[in-house]
Amino acid sequence: SQPPLISPSILSADFSALGQAVKDIDIAGADMIHIDVMDGHYVPNLTIGPMVVKALRPHTTKPFDVHLMISPVDTLIPAFIEAGADIISIHPDSGPHLHRSLQSIKSAGKKAGLVLNPGTPVDVVDPVIDLLDLILVMSVNPGFGGQSFIESQVDKIRRLRKKIDATGRDIILEVDGGVNPKTAIDCIEAGATALVAGSAVFNGSGSYAENIAAIRDANR
Ligand code: DX5
Ligand code: ZN
Repeated sequence: SQPPLISPSILSADFSALGQAVKDIDIAGADMIHIDVMDGHYVPNLTIGPMVVKALRPHTTKPFDVHLMISPVDTLIPAFIEAGADIISIHPDSGPHLHRSLQSIKSAGKKAGLVLNPGTPVDVVDPVIDLLDLILVMSVNPGFGGQSFIESQVDKIRRLRKKIDATGRDIILEVDGGVNPKTAIDCIEAGATALVAGSAVFNGSGSYAENIAAIRDANR
């Protein structure tokens, strides 16, 4: 099977040199750049806004995989589109009308993702699956990098793989949180096609290229 797409999360990068970090992971073989947007309200941490995303845009041509952990989410979606996001993933409980929020991403010509927290049931995808280009399974509770992978989420990946296969569409199945060369094996086996990794890329033992390759080749 195809190796998974690797989307390093710059949450674990040196925030005083994000432009360089994005260039470095691009050269090191990242397939996408995962950008964690937190508002201190939906999650207990505060990170990157659209101005920073816009400032990073000239530093790579790789897709920006933007993970919005903000509520209310709707008023800020246009700013992230304008800033250069390629994929925008939102949480189902971050606004009053999930279907409308996803439509607003799609109608701007961008890819839409839906994020499932560890406590979110898989069925949340059913009414909106036609609008989805990506489903993001959180294998930690959102808010911080460097947390431990929650094993119970592997079964959720497996169940979402079945739902995606039943659509016949090529929806990316991405996993985020505690992914390293060891936990990646279960994710890939369960049917994940993209893996986010923050600390395993930026604080791993090797170079960025070695750390990315170790996750990509985890089950080979
Ligand atoms: C957590 C973020 C993750 C985080 C992953 O809320 O969504 O993307 O950066 O970091 P690691 O890979 O260190 O768990
Ligand atoms: Zn994330």
